[in-house]
Amino acid sequence: MVYLYNKGYLVARGCVGNLNMDKHSVQKLDGKNPSAITDKLEMLQRLMPEAFVDGKLDPSLLAKNLNTEASTVSEDGERYGLTWPGKKLAFEEVAKQTYCTLTLDEAASSESWKESNNIFIEGENLETLRVLQKAYFNKVKMIYIDPPYNTGKDFVYHDNYRQTEEEYCDDCNVTENGHLKKAHKLNTRDSGRFHSDWLTMMHPRLFLARNLLRDDGVIFVSIDDNEVHNLRMLMNEIFGEENVTQMIWHKLDEKGNSVKKTVGNGFKREHEYILVATKSDSFVFNDRRVKPKGTFSNPDSDPRGNWFSAIISYDDDHSNENSEYYYEIQSPSGIRWARQWQVKKDEMEVLLQDKKIYFGNEPEYKNVPRLKVFENELINQRPRSVLSNFTINGTKQLEAILAGNYFDNPKPIELVSQLIEISTDKNINEIVLDFFSGSGTSAHAVMAQNAADGGNRQYICVQLPEDTPEGSEAKKAGYARISDIALERIKRAAKKVQAENPEYTGDLGVRVYRATDSHFPVWRAKSYESDAELRTAMFNYVNTLPDGTPQQRADEVLLKLGYPLTTTIVDHNGWYQADDVALVLDEQFAVERLFTDVLTSNPKTVIVLESVFKNDEEKINFDLRCTEKGIIFQTI
Ligand SMILES: C[S@@+](CC[C@H](N)C(=O)[O-])C[C@H]1O[C@@H](n2cnc3c(N)ncnc32)[C@H](O)[C@@H]1O
Repeated sequence: MVYLYNKGYLVARGCVGNLNMDKHSVQKLDGKNPSAITDKLEMLQRLMPEAFVDGKLDPSLLAKNLNTEASTVSEDGERYGLTWPGKKLAFEEVAKQTYCTLTLDEAASSESWKESNNIFIEGENLETLRVLQKAYFNKVKMIYIDPPYNTGKDFVYHDNYRQTEEEYCDDCNVTENGHLKKAHKLNTRDSGRFHSDWLTMMHPRLFLARNLLRDDGVIFVSIDDNEVHNLRMLMNEIFGEENVTQMIWHKLDEKGNSVKKTVGNGFKREHEYILVATKSDSFVFNDRRVKPKGTFSNPDSDPRGNWFSAIISYDDDHSNENSEYYYEIQSPSGIRWARQWQVKKDEMEVLLQDKKIYFGNEPEYKNVPRLKVFENELINQRPRSVLSNFTINGTKQLEAILAGNYFDNPKPIELVSQLIEISTDKNINEIVLDFFSGSGTSAHAVMAQNAADGGNRQYICVQLPEDTPEGSEAKKAGYARISDIALERIKRAAKKVQAENPEYTGDLGVRVYRATDSHFPVWRAKSYESDAELRTAMFNYVNTLPDGTPQQRADEVLLKLGYPLTTTIVDHNGWYQADDVALVLDEQFAVERLFTDVLTSNPKTVIVLESVFKNDEEKINFDLRCTEKGIIFQTI
């Protein structure tokens, strides 16, 4: 959040908490991030109350009211679909709520963090996705993830919250100071649950990620043959199979030769997959701007130099007469060409005036009109399902930035920037999310793509603070955790992008957040009580902080109310304000100032720490005053 300092009080903009006040019983904020399931059930109940009995969904009533079959199970009990031992647990993970929050680390952020909308989160991604649910619901345009491929040598993050603390520590190899040596369990093929464990890990993350996507959003998931079949089924289930498709990435080296890996029987594999899922059919791919492939020449002695002719129309069979792109043009010799073009009529007029449409040689000018593209120009190209136009140099790219080989198999920057180019609008601050961030390639790609096309997309990258291996080059170079590598790469990449694009004035800063416990003792205590297993599993990577500063508390409350992390907050010297919400979160705050400073700013909602009131009378007085002014009053 950004803080604006103002004498005496603090204000933030956005949503309002669910308040339901009786006269003198002040509603308390519950401090939990919403459950992804509860919200959907509430929506369904509003839409179809007839399918609910005593507040519970009755699937048979739902089916009856929709005049459809309740189940697709055959008489023999057979059913089509993907199932695995652990699927129930995966659904339970989706429904879980959390008291955790994200805490700004100013010192780790870039100098210009206040002006930046780019976010790096050090934290476990399932928990972080839960924390982001309310503030980023329906807000993300594109997600790219590169999860562990489950090769049999991968460490797959272990979400088994049902274990005791002791069992968990044994399993995860926890050091004495409570840090994880390895946040992941080695998932070997002989484990008996090889695919199941991977699916149980992926399911809740994809499910929660879908909630964050805008209706016209898209997710790309890198994968190889080990799990491509299961991932496709899983994504079909979560996104609807009509919304899922697949790309292949042809791995080429710096010289453009295939990078092959022998995989049994002498078969050489030289590709990986990218599965693509959208939330609805409102997503449409953008064209790419590419250098045309072809032979350049100058048959008409054009003073502008050599050119290449590109298609600019559809033939008669493929032209749609009803399209606004269907119109007629005339060649210099008077031949009429009525068909569907690839540009609108006014754009065509400019091209004709610029003599960029080629009709063949004079004096006949009888060829199908084509577009003249000069050597230094780019043309539009529809995105293709086979990506083969960049080399596999992710490792070299990272080495060049960090001056050492500290992370295995980072993706090439161009792979991700190409996905960004074909799926986002550069002009409207769209959010790109990567919650398996690794070395930070996606953050780098967002900055590089913005610099290339003058865009203002912003990124959110999440990386577990997983320890780098003992004795590794990374450890020796001082990178204790993978998140340290990512953050350093992001900062160096920003400098590199700026140096390579001196004219670029866009956002190259970063705000760093850490997944932490709540800053309110009352909520922390609840998280210990009600989610004991979750706490047990989480204590390793959640930094337990002291009670938190009023500013950290304000950030937490606003995030839980649904304000994005980049919300502007005004610091009024003791209380905070965002939009029309006023927050008083310092127990030392003088009650009189609630009346003189806070209420006079005319907020819609005031949230006050219980301990600010010395007794019930003070609280009731303030409550009455708020009721009088139509202000919602809530406590923590
Ligand atoms: C295959 S790597 C991603 C590489 C990345 N695309 C790049 O180019 O650098 C997967 C990353 O996800 C991280 N990861 C695995 N499980 C995670 C979890 N539960 N939460 C957050 N990060 C996780 C791993 O530490 C690893 O760095």
